[in-house]
Amino acid sequence: MQNKIKKILVTGGQGFIGSHLVDNLVAKGHKVTIFDRYYDDKKFKDYGWKGKVRFRLGDVKDRDSIIEGVGFNDITVNLAGILGTAETVNNPIPPVEVNIVGAINIFHALKEHKKRGFQIAVGNYWMNNPYSITKSTAERLALMYNKEHGTDIRVLRGMNVFGERQHHRPVRKIFPNVVVPALLNKDITIYGTGDQVMDLIYVKDFAEVLARVILYDNIPNDIIYESGVGGGMTINKAVDLILKTTKSKSKVNRVPMRAGEDKHSVVEISEKGWQDLKKHLKFYPKDLTPMNKAVAQSVAWYKKHLKEFSWD
Ligand SMILES: NC(=O)c1ccc[n+]([C@@H]2O[C@H](COP(=O)([O-])OP(=O)(O)OC[C@H]3O[C@@H](n4cnc5c(N)ncnc54)[C@H](O)[C@@H]3O)[C@@H](O)[C@H]2O)c1
Repeated sequence: MQNKIKKILVTGGQGFIGSHLVDNLVAKGHKVTIFDRYYDDKKFKDYGWKGKVRFRLGDVKDRDSIIEGVGFNDITVNLAGILGTAETVNNPIPPVEVNIVGAINIFHALKEHKKRGFQIAVGNYWMNNPYSITKSTAERLALMYNKEHGTDIRVLRGMNVFGERQHHRPVRKIFPNVVVPALLNKDITIYGTGDQVMDLIYVKDFAEVLARVILYDNIPNDIIYESGVGGGMTINKAVDLILKTTKSKSKVNRVPMRAGEDKHSVVEISEKGWQDLKKHLKFYPKDLTPMNKAVAQSVAWYKKHLKEFSWD
């Protein structure tokens, strides 16, 4: 690992994954600036960032503001994104603008300034919804920039990241949409049979893998790194684990699949993904937080913050 202190710009740094990455980088002694389209004073207070983390108001769609931000830093991490599988099906323009055009603005700035960069990608890159399509396009563009323009943009696909601070609206992510009703003993909604395989990775473990991808010198940038746990956890199994941890009396309702998602989908880290983590990042399965512990820690956080999650 490179020990030198770096100046790091994190676009979308106030979001769920971004906030944990910021904590990880600050703990390692780096100087972090968040680049986001709004400023959230409550997060700066609650996460202990005041006086430690800088903030730059801006939009990745705006080439001028991003080019300046990239120039002031050693590394730029692009986490800004419009999320949502079914949520984006009827409104594909915002994901195209932010996930593709915004990413190109950053790649262009990295090329101009000759700085290291990072692009986040998704495990369900092959699904036909605007979110997966735009994220998959951006990861391919990053590889194209590296090959044709000599940039050093590292790409990491995250599987189903879960943990403290993840929100349940407007995008329906699985973990908060099971934990919150479970804690309230309200009905839980599952789309499809629940046999779809997903790969739940604890956000603090994901942030550590991400930090290594950006901080390590001389690692390949012509491959796509992956971060997940593996082992084939179905949605039904994950729901059972959460119900057990929360000691909930909630009932599970099964409803038809949503638009833009696949009935028999398998989203999981590949064997090559694990080999790359071990070989290039020295990250091994033993470094993961045990699933029961990660779920218990996350559930404890949701219990404490339940009032912030309105449910009808
Ligand atoms: N959550 C997951 O399981 C997961 C898995 C793989 C990849 N990802 C990717 O990780 C990234 C972060 O995801 P998250 O779950 O933290 O989402 P999030 O919605 O919590 O965070 C996204 C952040 O991006 C910011 N943002 C959006 N549009 C912007 C713009 N135009 N300019 C500047 N900032 C903007 C938002 O304000 C927010 O702070 C996304 O790019 C997402 O595609 C997420």
